[in-house]
Amino acid sequence: MSQIIRQRFDGSSTALAVLHGRDLRNKVALITGANTGIGFETARSLALHGCNVILACRDMKKANDAIRRIQQEKDIVNCIALEMDLSSLSSVREAAEQFKQRFKSLDILILNAGVFGLPYQLTKDGYETTFQVNHLSQFYLTLLLKQTIQSSNNPRIVVVSSESHRFSSIRTVEDLHQSLSVPAYKYWAMAAYNESKLCNILFVQELAHQWPSIGVFACHPGNLVFTSLSRQWWLYRLLFALARPFTKSLQQAASTVIFCATAPELEGVTGSYFNNCCHCQPSNAALDSALAAQLWTLSQDMVTDVLKRNN
Ligand SMILES: NC(=O)c1ccc[n+]([C@@H]2O[C@H](COP(=O)([O-])OP(=O)(O)OC[C@H]3O[C@@H](n4cnc5c(N)ncnc54)[C@H](OP(=O)(O)O)[C@@H]3O)[C@@H](O)[C@H]2O)c1
Repeated sequence: MSQIIRQRFDGSSTALAVLHGRDLRNKVALITGANTGIGFETARSLALHGCNVILACRDMKKANDAIRRIQQEKDIVNCIALEMDLSSLSSVREAAEQFKQRFKSLDILILNAGVFGLPYQLTKDGYETTFQVNHLSQFYLTLLLKQTIQSSNNPRIVVVSSESHRFSSIRTVEDLHQSLSVPAYKYWAMAAYNESKLCNILFVQELAHQWPSIGVFACHPGNLVFTSLSRQWWLYRLLFALARPFTKSLQQAASTVIFCATAPELEGVTGSYFNNCCHCQPSNAALDSALAAQLWTLSQDMVTDVLKRNN
């Protein structure tokens, strides 16, 4: 990133402080996994500033409950629930079709949904679930929405990654192939999560390269933010609960996502990684442009395989 960005916010800033004074009534935002946690807080913050927000969630009841919670704060909010299960590429395709029937352009795409600590399981498309939910399906969603995104004046895509991408041992596409085909007895949920979060940043690098007219960002929302991400194991829940007094609130965790999605000073910037509303360097592996291009090809092939199988 060549521009120097004057820092207006930091780790203690809230999403609503980042949006202070902003009128987003002419904007359309789609957020995956917006029914709870950081995604909900992001949706709520944008909606309270007038943005048309599409909450793309796998459970429509949870999505509609989330919308009702936002409506309790402000009578007129423009929120819509869209059913999308990221463990199924056909669900992603159907959701994208529904979105495109209703909206001609998309200003802000926030790829937030994620799972952590899942035991080994394959999706019905035959891929390891953490990889598919955290990366592959959201990669596919982005490609399906290409035209609507490019129809917007100044579109942004934000991928919610994590600092834990630094712990991934993936260095080459062969490592990635190997990790995706590990048998259940060798699977380690933490490694799968770290790898998926590395894929998030690699995807942003390649997307910035392939779609240069769009502002594309990856970000880290915060450490051990108390959400339902830890739901898979009591020990994770305990760890997140113990850390809670020292970690970011949901409003603070959503601030970097909101900053990347809306900050005027990021106009003309793309392909960057943010933490605490501040540009920072991801790991060397995340900056490997050859690996990013290979991940893109691999992801495309994996999607194509499923489409062929389903036809
Ligand atoms: N919390 C942290 O400390 C932390 C730190 C770094 C990065 N992050 C990242 O922040 C993002 C948001 O996480 P969070 O902490 O807010 O977790 P969360 O409260 O568990 O929210 C995750 C969201 O993803 C959705 N989701 C999970 N599987 C899905 C699927 N198959 N299809 C569609 N949606 C699905 C969940 O829907 P359901 O409610 O239906 O399950 C939920 O809405 C994730 O990408 C995570 O990796 C979080």
